[in-house]
Amino acid sequence: MSQPITDTRIALIIGASRGLGCAMAAELADRGWSVIGTVRGSARTPLHDLADRHRERIRIEHLDITQPEELAPLHERLAGQQLDVLFVNAGTTNNEQTPIGAVPTQDFVDVMVTNALSPLRVIEALDDLVTPTGLIGVMSSGQGSITNNTNGLREVYRGSKAALNMFMRSYATRQTSADRSLLLLAPGWIRTALGGDDAPYTVEESTPLLVDVLLSHLGSKGLAFLDRNGQPVPW
Ligand SMILES: NC(=O)c1ccc[n+]([C@@H]2O[C@H](COP(=O)([O-])OP(=O)(O)OC[C@H]3O[C@@H](n4cnc5c(N)ncnc54)[C@H](OP(=O)(O)O)[C@@H]3O)[C@@H](O)[C@H]2O)c1
Repeated sequence: MSQPITDTRIALIIGASRGLGCAMAAELADRGWSVIGTVRGSARTPLHDLADRHRERIRIEHLDITQPEELAPLHERLAGQQLDVLFVNAGTTNNEQTPIGAVPTQDFVDVMVTNALSPLRVIEALDDLVTPTGLIGVMSSGQGSITNNTNGLREVYRGSKAALNMFMRSYATRQTSADRSLLLLAPGWIRTALGGDDAPYTVEESTPLLVDVLLSHLGSKGLAFLDRNGQPVPW
């Protein structure tokens, strides 16, 4: 078993192999945090390159969020850690512009299970590792806003993030202590594998903003749905 990280500030980022998750891990490490980042599978990823550069600050763990049987072993490997931040970044899209009625059932299931159900399974399995005043967050999307949906498109993805938001609100109502910070983060449209080449924002310009919002919300009690500038997004 790996030795627990003993630094005072520790973030666990679920889905940190590449894209925004990896960039947030790098930003937090640059700000002096210790980061446990998860990858799935055995392939080398950009997180491995990052860990090579920050051996003392980055630890790599393994989790496919759609495989619930992997959660208890991960919890066991993390036993003894006191997490200041648990952030579930992992997500997917089918990139389909077809109306919802034409979406193949398996596409619907894959996106909904990954984006809506699995993040809450992860949170419910690992939340006892988070300090009583720590932050539990998930990467949502502005496309999860029902109020702001005036043009459709990416209908399954939108629905999955709206469902994620709803499940997080349900989770929030079940918290017996009001001291934890809960966050749904809408990062903006960013050029990653998921965001695509037409996105207006780069990972480099976005990541410091996202980490600023995360750390600003740490210490605020209760659940918020915030954009990359820390502004509330309408549900
Ligand atoms: N980019 C945007 O414009 C944008 C906008 C709004 C919200 N978001 C959200 O931001 C998050 C990160 O997206 P990104 O843009 O950085 O996309 P990305 O570059 O495609 O990265 C997606 C990440 O999620 C991981 N992942 C996917 N399915 C997983 C699973 N079943 N188990 C564990 N990890 C899994 C991937 O791991 P692998 O390397 O193993 O595939 C990868 O680390 C997602 O939740 C996305 O919905 C992105």
